[in-house]
Amino acid sequence: MDGERVRICFVCLGNICRSPTAEGIMLALVKTAGLAGRIEIDSAGTAAYHVGERADRRSRQTAQARGVDLPSIARAFERSDFERFHYVLAMDEQNQRNLLALASTPAARSKVHLLRSFEPEHARDDLSVPDPYYGGPEGFERVFDICDSACRGLLAHVQREHGL
Ligand code: 4NP
Repeated sequence: MDGERVRICFVCLGNICRSPTAEGIMLALVKTAGLAGRIEIDSAGTAAYHVGERADRRSRQTAQARGVDLPSIARAFERSDFERFHYVLAMDEQNQRNLLALASTPAARSKVHLLRSFEPEHARDDLSVPDPYYGGPEGFERVFDICDSACRGLLAHVQREHGL
């Protein structure tokens, strides 16, 4: 993909908590690495309940306290997104199953990965980013920490794979 931007989409259920957090963190990491012109970041949900909404206030506040802006407006992941994105990162195994059910070709299926598979193994207790929506503030802190660690691993992987 010489000269083409590498396109990455983070996917959770509602696209208001976990995937906007990963998107905001990755935007900040890519900018710091001087790669904003080479890597494009987006997020989406496998469900459409919250389409058009900004990220959940609790996610925005948690991120803002760490200096990270969450610009996402919720949208639903569509089958055509498999053509646009090179990497589709599922936040948990349910999202991964939903994405694989939408993927109609082996090429589309090969783009789907669990975000936590990019976290260093010692930091990983399971492969899901736990849904914080119905819990307390500590859940949002944990989502931020997991996404931060996994996005650093993902960026290193993308840089290696694309010589960036
Ligand atoms: P997210 O969290 O998938 O991380 O955006 C959720 C947001 C909303 C709902 C569930 C999870 N919901 O049931 O409305």
